[in-house]
Amino acid sequence: MTIRSLCTLSLFVFAFSCAKAEVKKNAPAPVVSAEPAVSPEFASAKFRDPSAPVEERVEDLLSRMTVDEKIGQMTQVVIYKLLNGEMKTLSLGSGLSGGGGSPWRNNTITGWCDMVDGLQKEALSTRLGIPMLYGTDSVHGHNNLANATIFPHNIGIGAAGDPDLAERIGRAVALETAATGVPWTFAPCVAVARDPRWGRFYESYGQDSSLVTRLSSAFIRGFQSADTGAAKSIVTAKHFLGDGNTVWGSSRTGNYFIDQGNMIKDEKFIRETLLPPYAEAVKSGARTVMTSFSSWKGVKMHAQKYLMTEVLKRELGFTGFIVSDWGGMDQIDPDYYTAIVTGINAGIDMNMVPEQGERFIATMKSAVEKKDIPMSRVDDAVRRILRVKFEMGLFERPMANRKLASVVRSPEHLALAREAAQKSQVVLVNNATLPIQAGKVYVAGSAADDIGKQCGGWTMTWQGVAGKITAGTSILDGIREVAGKGRVKYVANGKFGSGDPKGTCVIVTGETPYAEGIGDNPKIEINPADAALVTAARGKFSKVVLVVVSGRPLILGDLAGKVDGLVAAWLPGTEGAGVADILFGKAAPTGKLSFAWPVSVEQLPLDRAISGEQKPLWPAGFGLSY
Ligand code: BGC
Ligand code: BGC
Repeated sequence: MTIRSLCTLSLFVFAFSCAKAEVKKNAPAPVVSAEPAVSPEFASAKFRDPSAPVEERVEDLLSRMTVDEKIGQMTQVVIYKLLNGEMKTLSLGSGLSGGGGSPWRNNTITGWCDMVDGLQKEALSTRLGIPMLYGTDSVHGHNNLANATIFPHNIGIGAAGDPDLAERIGRAVALETAATGVPWTFAPCVAVARDPRWGRFYESYGQDSSLVTRLSSAFIRGFQSADTGAAKSIVTAKHFLGDGNTVWGSSRTGNYFIDQGNMIKDEKFIRETLLPPYAEAVKSGARTVMTSFSSWKGVKMHAQKYLMTEVLKRELGFTGFIVSDWGGMDQIDPDYYTAIVTGINAGIDMNMVPEQGERFIATMKSAVEKKDIPMSRVDDAVRRILRVKFEMGLFERPMANRKLASVVRSPEHLALAREAAQKSQVVLVNNATLPIQAGKVYVAGSAADDIGKQCGGWTMTWQGVAGKITAGTSILDGIREVAGKGRVKYVANGKFGSGDPKGTCVIVTGETPYAEGIGDNPKIEINPADAALVTAARGKFSKVVLVVVSGRPLILGDLAGKVDGLVAAWLPGTEGAGVADILFGKAAPTGKLSFAWPVSVEQLPLDRAISGEQKPLWPAGFGLSY
């Protein structure tokens, strides 16, 4: 079977076309041999010699490359634009699965291995046989793979505040991702976010630079130390920088209100608050950094030569490569040529094109011919990319390790995800109610039995979607397991009747999943139907407990005073039993807010709460225990 027919047969999906996260297992599984084809012509070249020093291998290979091959290395194309042999014909350096990008109708471990190995075989069959580097957004587990272990989003890991936990999660995510042939994740997000109206707030560990630094570097160490039996797994520190600190309503395109917006803070703030996680990421061995869609003082980050080249590369000594964000360079200037020249000269090494590889390559070629982009800049970018590939051992081990399959959703990983969910719970109100004691338990609320909502965005699809989207234990399932089935009654329709004066009512509210752009929200209110349930439950039960499943602090109004117990569950992932463990005292709550919880949106962004000018509802660091 040719690679081409193999691709047409089995591969690839565009995020939007699989928005419903369908998992069809009946697509024919193509057979891919695991033998990499190494061109005999270069079999004895120095760059092929694993015992030669990396820098010598880089120089040897670089000296053999044509301009086209160099530009190809700098190009990263999205999976659904790699259906017709482009990996080979364009000599590409990289491919990616963005949010929701999975093998077409075959979102299984084998489907992924076949997809990635198929592309790798194309790359290996190019003139020089340079392996391609495949990346995906494994941001809280291998979240594009069906039935993977999904961990809490970073907001929950920030509340847990436990670097050892973050490190173990990093290792587990690397293993599950590598089990599908993918060595590279676009994570961790090291934003020090200050505005919960931002639709990516949950990707941030918290408002405090040192907390973000400790947790993200722990994740990096864990991810990059996973023993995968394949090429070394690598991370991306993102998004460099300013994401989470942009001003409301600032987008140039008007599509987004705060995402991809403008940061007006000064260089002192950048150096004191935003840069430390990158400095530590570099020290911890991060070899790729992704540029932010945001702007600093009106100039797109993708064009910020000072920050990328002077600060990150020179000052911090970053010798890995910078990858652009999704079409991020295109936004630098309406004129594509100007945009590419500016971005590459500013220091972008690998361009996440993502859909128009040929246009980027042609533009690069003419910019190099006209000397608008110096050859030295191209060589620098390619050196960086090749260096990382050599360091990873990608030349020696380019293919998936198919023996790793059993790590996906293994009992160990499920236990770790449950532990992470437990540790991330923050108890905010407790009027002698938690842990829930004997008696009947009534469960209601829009997020009580919803794996999709408790996973949030970047799960199965880009924006995430409510419902039974992947394997997992809902919070309701978890309550049944921990409290004992006989004690629990699920009031799915929210009609409590006359209630039960001796029972406890647990209302689980939640947000509809969202991610970048679409998740920007000026109001960040609690679901009104769930708020009405709280009112309806009061007086009908002995105690009312509210569990908030959300990617941000929501404006509670008078709700906090209306309940006997209130727990912030964040986006706990697939193991909802971790939430139940805290509710019923199977584990003691230790989670603390990693940012201030605002009284109202007028208090946003959080800077005034951080400086002490303003009193939030609860300060960062708050969290009750028992
Ligand atoms: C996001 C990145 C992500 C990339 C690839 C972008 O839109 O901003 O965080 O890594 O897409 O999916
Ligand atoms: C992709 C995401 C990407 C986004 C950028 C989506 O189609 O799936 O990965 O972040 O586009 O706009």
